[in-house]
Amino acid sequence: MKACRKWYTLAVNEWHIMPVNRWCILAVNHWHIIGCKMTTPAKLLSGGQKKLVMLARLVVQNPQLLLLDEPDNHLDLPAKRNLERLIASYPGCVVIISHDRYLLDEVTSHIAELENGRLTLYPGNYTAYANERALRRLRQQQMYAAQQKEISRIEAAIKRFELWASVVVNERHIRQARARQKMLDRMDKVEKVSEARRMTLEMAGWRGSNKVIELEKVRKTFENGRTIFSGLNLTLWHGERVGLVGPNGAGKSVLLKQLLDPEAISDGQIKIGPSSKIGYYAQEHETLDDDQTLIDAIRLTAPVSRETAVAFLHKFLYTYDQMQQPIGKLSGGERSRLQLARLVLEKPNLLILDEPTNNLDIHSIEVLEETLEEFVGTVLVISHDRYFLDKVVDRVVELRNGRLAEFIGGYTDYLAETADAG
Ligand SMILES: Nc1ncnc2c1ncn2[C@@H]1O[C@H](COP(=O)(O)OP(=O)(O)OP(=O)(O)O)[C@@H](O)[C@H]1O
Ligand SMILES: [Mg+2]
Repeated sequence: MKACRKWYTLAVNEWHIMPVNRWCILAVNHWHIIGCKMTTPAKLLSGGQKKLVMLARLVVQNPQLLLLDEPDNHLDLPAKRNLERLIASYPGCVVIISHDRYLLDEVTSHIAELENGRLTLYPGNYTAYANERALRRLRQQQMYAAQQKEISRIEAAIKRFELWASVVVNERHIRQARARQKMLDRMDKVEKVSEARRMTLEMAGWRGSNKVIELEKVRKTFENGRTIFSGLNLTLWHGERVGLVGPNGAGKSVLLKQLLDPEAISDGQIKIGPSSKIGYYAQEHETLDDDQTLIDAIRLTAPVSRETAVAFLHKFLYTYDQMQQPIGKLSGGERSRLQLARLVLEKPNLLILDEPTNNLDIHSIEVLEETLEEFVGTVLVISHDRYFLDKVVDRVVELRNGRLAEFIGGYTDYLAETADAG
């Protein structure tokens, strides 16, 4: 704690050198930016580490209003817990955007829903919101049905009066028709409950090699001399769904990148089955080119006409305007969907996915979960999303302190076995 009283400087590459107070030291210590010196350039930090430094930087400014846009993405479980504690005890006001249902349940007192350009405020946490929303929608649906019935009744009456007025010219009938028309015009119309459109993700996969991935005594040492892992052994068989977990900065993303480029390892051997076709989802969307338009990105992935590319992108919920814009303008979730779209076109049978649910909304995560369940092929996926892992994987491999440990069973079994991970 003595260190907490001192002031430090955190020099992070292109960022300013700034004084860092007790909050930051606590943040950095608590969220253990493991294995990294304070002077490590930001571009070399892992996805989670970058988020932690950004959060620490925010917190030292101690603003009255904290605006957090998906701060939990990339964070490991202990870091998420710390974030939950930070938000819950923050003296100012916090507005947080998140798709993590657990986190929202823990920290929020109100939920604001932005849908179809309209903001609706619900008191309570996420569960309260979900229940209240379902109730409101049910009520709205019933009111809509009742009002539609009433409208049909009035419209039929108007037609009747108009018919009578045309047969026997009678002012009274005309007045009655007009009065009812006015009634209709003045009526507060109840909107039909609209269901959010879901993306379509058709990724069937196919049967390839039996032994899909084999790692033997794999070591990776960076140019700066740091060994991130060594002696890694792992075999993946056709059809397996394996979750690769471990704390932020453990080297998970580095390990996946070695599978794409087995020559890049420092020692040992990586074998990929000869009839395995890899589909890779990059954690920070490095595989997307910000300057390309969405249509170009699709047409460069598969030889399809412009019309086919447009129809295909439509399944991933893009508007025609967005399809013609550069990828650089897309939101995080839109980038994630584009990576998934490209994976579909690549027709892989070995999916190597690095945190695919980050940024995705809950509907899209559900679609991804369903697709992975049906996928004929092998899935190796990194994620910190407890819900997703529980649904998708049946074997967990943990990378920690440069070593791999195996756990048979789903993510809940893994949590139960590892005291510190829960
Ligand atoms: N070229 C490099 N030179 C030196 N260090 C590097 C290099 N590339 C990555 N690192 C370091 O390797 C560590 C592991 O990074 P990696 O991105 O694999 O973490 P991760 O386990 O995927 O974490 P997260 O859950 O946060 O995504 C980090 O500390 C990172 O700074
Ligand atoms: Mg990573």
